Amino acid sequence: MKKQKVLVTGGAGFIGGNFVQYMVNKYPEYDIYNLDLLTYAGDLTKHREIEEKPNYNFVQADIADKEAIMALFEKEKFDYVVHFAAESHVDRSITNPEIFVLTNVLGTQVLLDAAKEYKISKFVHVSTDEVYGELDFDPTTFFTEETPLQPNSPYSASKASSDLLVRAYHETFHLPINITRCSNNYGPYHFPEKLIPLTISRVVNDEKVPVYGDGKNIRDWLHVLDHCAAIDLVLHEGVNGEVYNVGGHNERTNLEVVKTIISTLGKSEELIEFVQDRLGHDKRYAIDPTKLERLGWIPTYTFETGIAQTIQWYLDNKDWWEQILSGEYQSYFEKQYILK
Ligand code: NAD
Ligand code: DAU
Repeated sequence: MKKQKVLVTGGAGFIGGNFVQYMVNKYPEYDIYNLDLLTYAGDLTKHREIEEKPNYNFVQADIADKEAIMALFEKEKFDYVVHFAAESHVDRSITNPEIFVLTNVLGTQVLLDAAKEYKISKFVHVSTDEVYGELDFDPTTFFTEETPLQPNSPYSASKASSDLLVRAYHETFHLPINITRCSNNYGPYHFPEKLIPLTISRVVNDEKVPVYGDGKNIRDWLHVLDHCAAIDLVLHEGVNGEVYNVGGHNERTNLEVVKTIISTLGKSEELIEFVQDRLGHDKRYAIDPTKLERLGWIPTYTFETGIAQTIQWYLDNKDWWEQILSGEYQSYFEKQYILK
């Protein structure tokens, strides 16, 4: 029987990286291809334990490079595409929106063209709850798959644009697609520019933690491995053309998250520093995951178990985040793959 080939874009990043490891270990009968440009957010050191496995492959390429992407699809004849590659940080999209359009919109369109041309069996587009905009603080309201798209940041606008292109390729060309829209992830290998890993690394080093505005904005946190299991389920069981929201009912204010980390690490709340608010800062995200639950998904982490495990992971893997903060991780690809 032909081995199934799975192309994972953005597999050197946080969620894509966790997903690549999950797939390589769970499906030895699949060939997993990690395609990543290795921007500042791409780190291959996290794959040391799988990089010699026979079902793991790495390709450095830009998803917006049409020639390179078409040539790769021609050569490898992929069965599935799971598309994570993106510029993902809201703050960066406020200072430099252009790269968000190039990567998130144009890059997605290039992949869609390749997927269409080479007749892949499923294209899973990993999107975000941020495309729905923001909710107010009424705890009975949630984002459903029917909530209108109302993105507020250049990042979420670029993701919403890519969602619409994915949908259009299904409607126009019958490309077999799914779109997943997940809430905030946390867990191992989270890049330390995002709230949770930034807070852990700062608190461990007794440095100030910047909390935007009054800290009352709410995010709905999901452990990255629960997200990986959701995407695995959608890849194999998702109904073509459908959107699935992913979230585990773990709403917390930013201040609650920061205080939980500080108290778990036994440090003082004096480390908290309220700073100027993010422009256009979305008030609240909260996901209704009923549709995905009906497909058979059940999250395994509560926020309490997940954040405790994550804090411990950062304590046990200080070497990992220190080489991210120092920039040393960026020379790993050259040392391991090019000079070898
Ligand atoms: P990340 O920033 O950690 O990783 C992104 C990866 O994409 C990096 O490895 C980077 O090198 C790669 N990349 C960037 N531009 C590229 C290009 N032009 N060509 C090829 N590779 C490129 O992001 P993440 O937090 O892991 O998010 C992954 C996906 O999940 C994104 O699409 C994001 O919108 C979505 N998402 C993230 C969250 C979250 O909480 N982090 C929640 C829901 C959805
Ligand atoms: O909801 C899903 C989204 O979650 C993903 O689509 C994005 O890719 C991902 O980056 C994340 O976006 P957020 O903007 O919610 O995540 P971030 O960690 O940047 O911020 C979380 C909250 O914490 C947000 O309300 C802003 C606040 N914050 C963030 C940072 C970095 C602070 O108060 N201080 C900080 O230093």
